[in-house]
Amino acid sequence: MNLTELNKIAAAMVAPGKGILAADESSGTIKKRFDAIGVESTETNRRDYREMLFRSKEAMSQYISGVILYDETIWQDAKDGTPLVKLIEQSGAIPGIKVDEGTQALPMCPGELVTVGLDKLAERLKKYYDRGARFAKWRAVIDIGSGIPSMTAISVNAHALARYAALCQAAQIVPIVEPEVLMDGDHDIDRCFEVTSRVLNMTFQELRVQRVALEGMVLKPNMAVSGKKCAKQASVEEVAEKTIRLLKACVPAAVPGIAFLSGGQSDQEATAHLNAMHKLGPLPWGLTFSYGRALQAAPQKAWSGKAENVAAGQRAFSHRARMNGLASKGEWQSSLEQKAA
Ligand code: 13P
Repeated sequence: MNLTELNKIAAAMVAPGKGILAADESSGTIKKRFDAIGVESTETNRRDYREMLFRSKEAMSQYISGVILYDETIWQDAKDGTPLVKLIEQSGAIPGIKVDEGTQALPMCPGELVTVGLDKLAERLKKYYDRGARFAKWRAVIDIGSGIPSMTAISVNAHALARYAALCQAAQIVPIVEPEVLMDGDHDIDRCFEVTSRVLNMTFQELRVQRVALEGMVLKPNMAVSGKKCAKQASVEEVAEKTIRLLKACVPAAVPGIAFLSGGQSDQEATAHLNAMHKLGPLPWGLTFSYGRALQAAPQKAWSGKAENVAAGQRAFSHRARMNGLASKGEWQSSLEQKAA
């Protein structure tokens, strides 16, 4: 392992003004997104859609530091035969790959999940590295509900995240460690804070036990937010203040960067929250976005599967990328959204 090189890549992934495009939806998830815009989820349509994003010059060269790909996409070529990975590299962004294989029910723990995909991971990482991937992602899912999460779910998922992270570093790939506490329930922000804190503490404990070099990873956490069905929704300022307090307590300063998931927040909420956190600086780590839905909902709608809408889709993507790029420096204002509308 060359830690200096891993650290350089991790730092580039969270460079100020830039963030990560999470375009690694599984075939099942992208079908759901396409269903919503009336587009059939064929291999060609998935390719065309992602090619549109990766050819968005403004977004990709100025605001996107890296792209997380799904296995199908990393092997695909653009319409003109250029590998999609090459398009990303040519734009100046770093290609990354989702390597977990989704979740399974966790035995003895009703309603809870464990992320799988460790078997043969070392061999797969080597192939992804040879294709150009320089970072990877593994997502653990923790749900909040009555009597959950259990210590068992937190512990087995943290263990798997650390196993994955160690394998990545041994393969000279920067691991994005993503323990996602879902925002689906009716819990309040303080319960989210408390659960996320337990999850992060256990995750870093496992990372240490398994000798993962903190300098060569990126953390992808949820923010501390109210559950979607909670009657009392926390303000932008409260989310920012509690998230930063939580991260300062749980994430060592040796970690070069933190890149949030959007998790079901609206596009503007995700931007406003990141921006507000930067008002609370200085911060010990790089802090940016690694959004899926909050970067792609607008371009998906603008594109709607039609070749004549590609320019509109790219404009919508560039706008959201720019807004989040500004937020990653605390320079976003809501008036910039209205101007673009
Ligand atoms: P969302 O921003 O849509 O939550 O997706 C990010 C991601 O990569 C989840 O694993």
